[in-house]
Amino acid sequence: MEVLTTVLETQNLMKLLRSQGKSIGFVPTMGALHHGHISLVQQAVNENDVVVSSIFVNPIQFNNPDDLEKYPRTFESDVEMLNQAGCNYIFYPTVSEMYPDKVTKSYEFGALEMVMEGAFRPGHFNGVAVVVHKLFDIVQPHKAYFGKKDYQQLAVIRMLVEMEKIPITIVAAETVREPSGLAMSSRNMRLSETDREKAAQISKTLSWVKSQKGLLSIKELEEMALSRLKPDFNPEYFQIVNAFTLQPVNSWTDAPKLVACVAAHIGGVRLIDNLEL
Ligand code: PAF
Repeated sequence: MEVLTTVLETQNLMKLLRSQGKSIGFVPTMGALHHGHISLVQQAVNENDVVVSSIFVNPIQFNNPDDLEKYPRTFESDVEMLNQAGCNYIFYPTVSEMYPDKVTKSYEFGALEMVMEGAFRPGHFNGVAVVVHKLFDIVQPHKAYFGKKDYQQLAVIRMLVEMEKIPITIVAAETVREPSGLAMSSRNMRLSETDREKAAQISKTLSWVKSQKGLLSIKELEEMALSRLKPDFNPEYFQIVNAFTLQPVNSWTDAPKLVACVAAHIGGVRLIDNLEL
């Protein structure tokens, strides 16, 4: 496995690999890797000739400077995990390599960025879109892999690819969970032992909501889910939405597929999770 740090060497190498007829799978990350990331890399290894993963803590997608500062950085163990998973190249640029000039690009995702993560983290999805578009331009993969844990991010990236006519297949993978049900996340590293145990309540609440589908109204269920979380968490939202548009729904028949999405803080850590209903 090789670590690449410059845009130019990465672009040239990828161009060469493509000209040799190799298929390229790409797993973008911000490092602090866990088994969720590794399962994406393993899937990419199974489906492509060459696998590239990027490790870049993208400053422009953090609306909260404290969150950026506290974001875990574990480069050495990340390299070890990627190597074992069969990754071939790591793209590991500095901030000035990725952003030599002031970022002015702005994308329009309409209603998709007005709700949930978009509403609570202003500018977040534009930052994600800017970096993902840049990474796609540099790596030019055939397929790129994203986890469903960031459900709204996945929808934004699908929209980006469609809007910008980027010829890359987006592959969505199921959320990987700890035995307690807690969705794997780099942020879990910042949870105390007690909060980690309590955090399992998020996925339990999602499963409970799924078991109540159609028995109560959407509004009632959302309110009950929030009150289940309130003793231990400071929840930002619990919403049942259209799984394609991510827009709120009023009744169970408002959309062909629904997903329940939640964001909640515990012990100063912001966690998100979701479950397709
Ligand atoms: O999901 C993430 O880790 C990040 O948002 C991504 C897609 C790597 C962009 O920085």
